[in-house]
Amino acid sequence: MKLVRHIANLGYGSRKQVQWMFREGRITDADGEVLYADDKVPHEVIRIDGEALDPEQGLLLILHKPAGYTCSTKDTGRLVYDLLPPRFRLRDPVLSTVGRLDRDTSGLLLFTDDGQLLHRIIAPKSNLPKTYEATLAQPLRGDEGALFASGTLMLESETTPLKPASLEAIDDTHARLTITEGRYHQVRRMFAAVGNHVEALHRSRIGGLSLDGLPEGEWRIADAGDVARLFSGD
Ligand code: URA
Repeated sequence: MKLVRHIANLGYGSRKQVQWMFREGRITDADGEVLYADDKVPHEVIRIDGEALDPEQGLLLILHKPAGYTCSTKDTGRLVYDLLPPRFRLRDPVLSTVGRLDRDTSGLLLFTDDGQLLHRIIAPKSNLPKTYEATLAQPLRGDEGALFASGTLMLESETTPLKPASLEAIDDTHARLTITEGRYHQVRRMFAAVGNHVEALHRSRIGGLSLDGLPEGEWRIADAGDVARLFSGD
């Protein structure tokens, strides 16, 4: 792929703007030698203003989403994309969220521009466990765990029961719930189905991948180890 298109696709600017960056000598190789738009060099050696480029296509990002941010590219109010460098929103192929978290849910949120990886994570048959920590308005009754694990719980206006989910009571009003599906507002609706209300919700884990100390509002690029953990379930 031509260098201008390659750099523009990473969101650094329109093709016209990238042409100008070449003209201004801002695009160099790793030794600071100015590159020209028709040069053929590998991605790894390219620098813009001395900085290495963002990773090529095949990117997976881990964000610690704060509550109050919407998983959308265009909505009023705070968007999860506002927490990433602006150019990440301009990448082609697009960097999309892997599933969604409600605006008021915090925790582990993934982004990728890799359609196959996205599918592998969210496809129902991959059964990837997702763990949520819920703060409840009412104390647990004690029978929720058995009901959630039964595989018979039917949510309002749905036609198939939920797959078995596992509930761990942390204390009276705090529970850890692991589900393998991603139905609309699933966790909140599960607790509503047992007469409770979720006051705060946080996703702590997908597969074997957790935030692992990543501060709220911060993100990092996942590496091969993260991807392995994601599918390892441990
Ligand atoms: N279940 C919910 O109710 N909300 C989320 O954000 C994720 C799962």
